[in-house]
Amino acid sequence: MGDVVLAIETSCDETAAAVVDGRRIASNVVASQAELHSVYGGVVPEVAARHHLTTVNAVVDRALDEAGVTLGDVDRIAVTRRPGLIGALLVGVATAKALAYATGKPLVMADHLHGHVAACWLEPLALDPPFVALTASGGHTRLDLVDDYAAPRLLGQTLDDAAGEAIDKGARLLGIPYPGGPGLEALAREGDRTAFDFPVGLRSRGPDQLDFSYAGVKTALLYATRDLGDDGVQARRADLAASYQEAIVRPLVDRLMLAADIHGVPAVSIGGGVAANGRLRELVEQAASGRGLRVAIPDRALCTDNAAMIGAAAAFTPAIPWPDYVGEDAIATAPPGGIAA
Ligand code: KG4
Ligand code: ZN
Repeated sequence: MGDVVLAIETSCDETAAAVVDGRRIASNVVASQAELHSVYGGVVPEVAARHHLTTVNAVVDRALDEAGVTLGDVDRIAVTRRPGLIGALLVGVATAKALAYATGKPLVMADHLHGHVAACWLEPLALDPPFVALTASGGHTRLDLVDDYAAPRLLGQTLDDAAGEAIDKGARLLGIPYPGGPGLEALAREGDRTAFDFPVGLRSRGPDQLDFSYAGVKTALLYATRDLGDDGVQARRADLAASYQEAIVRPLVDRLMLAADIHGVPAVSIGGGVAANGRLRELVEQAASGRGLRVAIPDRALCTDNAAMIGAAAAFTPAIPWPDYVGEDAIATAPPGGIAA
């Protein structure tokens, strides 16, 4: 083996551990808490933290087992340090620190968004820079120019809600249980995406800007459901879902392509939970192939939260030698510029 990283990710509601050996994923274990939170209609931070605590050791053991390695074979331990729910992050950070300290190994404190971008570095995609990366998740929506995996450069981002947030809130309005993304996608497949003309954010700012806005489309869906009334919504649910999904994914694709044109890169990538969306994947594929761009679309399991992507980010984040990380902490917020490497 070459450079074996045990990675841990607990920033939100997935307890995840993975073993990554260079660009190869040796194991990638995710224990989702989604069902636990669905009764509340969203993630309850305290519940998430407690559940990470009861699950994390078993998930780490499973990741080592599935990779066929022991802790002794691991060269570095990596963990998501930021951004995320503080109580949830703390469980991963405390676990990783303890494992690294007890075994005398270096620790990498990685950035969650960096992980979403670095997922494309892993095999089989093995994407090399330069490229433009779209990251669309529950908390973030951004475009980065990646000349170097160690330092993605922000090109544009949402000015209000994240795409995933808009998806989850829209799904809720349509009576789809948490997590809304997969349910909205399934319902949208039955509907007509041209049925409702929902506003596409920031169109008025002109064609060459790379930011996003999702507050307007969310409000438009709310008004549409009010106008239709309960029976009307029931009858048009699939059309509403399809039109709403279209209004969310279109600007993601358009601005990703625009950024690729402006920066003259040969490739684009997508990542984050929203990149698991089939309609987004299809549109990105079409638009990129029409322009002769290479497009890196990770497996769905590498788009939604996972630890393999943290193992990838660890390849581009300085390791802290034993035992200097003992005083390091989790951080809830993203750093200025959005991604720490
Ligand atoms: O990256 P992620 O797993 O967690 C965060 O870092 O936030 O992203 C979660 C987001 C949620 O808003 C979820 O509804 C959305 O990704 N999502 C989807 C799909 N699967 C997950 N959105 C649309 N279509 C999907 N299939
Ligand atoms: Zn994420």
